Amino acid sequence: MRDAEWVMVLTGAGVSRESGIPTFRDAQEGLWADFDPQKLATVEGYLADPALVWSWYDMRRLKVGQAQPNPGHYALVALEKEVPHFFLVTQNIDGLHRRAGSQNVVELHGNIARHKCFDGGHAPQQELPYGLTEPPQCQQCGSMIRPDVVWFGEALPTRELRVAFAAAEKCEVALVVGTSALVQPAAALPLIAKERGAMLIEVNPDETDLTEFSDIYLPGKSGDVLPQLIDTLKVL
Ligand code: OAD
Repeated sequence: MRDAEWVMVLTGAGVSRESGIPTFRDAQEGLWADFDPQKLATVEGYLADPALVWSWYDMRRLKVGQAQPNPGHYALVALEKEVPHFFLVTQNIDGLHRRAGSQNVVELHGNIARHKCFDGGHAPQQELPYGLTEPPQCQQCGSMIRPDVVWFGEALPTRELRVAFAAAEKCEVALVVGTSALVQPAAALPLIAKERGAMLIEVNPDETDLTEFSDIYLPGKSGDVLPQLIDTLKVL
């Protein structure tokens, strides 16, 4: 890591856990333990019950807005300053990496603070208020507004995907933090990096399908492990 010129970091919901934002697949507290992703995170689900889906994202947008970045986010800001070519690829839609100060962030699954309309992809001119009981209509084309996040069955944004795959192919170190590595295509990125000769480092309190392919597995919470990693790099 100390000598690497190109580093890719892939993050998932675990990085924001210590900011009070639940992960998806935790058996007790995960969002998908209590909520049905087919109803809440698909186009079909939104069209079947727009008010329900709108309110669910509205509630999450409020919580995310109140959350603060944690030491794991800040450690990645510090790491970016040490590496000439640094790519922070995230599956998180909470925007906390940017709010912490990370610069080169690739948001693969969109951002919950942004909205777009169904038909034209137009973004609303102003920030939308909280507490609307129905989704608003696009002022340009009249179609329904939705959160600008990627739902199951949808394609990822083209530019972000291209940058993420290029980073995976080019990096010398791939640092994978707080993701179950179960959702494609994000889950493929660390393995592509590894195939191209990168060192694979995983930070996660629990082992994942990726752990056996990792060169280094650092068990623990990102808010604990990442600051230690940065401190170690600085004294090396
Ligand atoms: P998951 O909920 O699948 O996985 C979260 C991971 O974080 C697990 O492996 C946990 O062990 C780990 N974890 C928990 N606490 C942690 C901590 N304090 N520090 C580090 N790791 C911790 O979340 P993702 O992998 O992000 O997609 O899920 C990927 C995608 O599936 C999400 O982006 C979302 C979801 O459906 C969409 O919404 C499109």
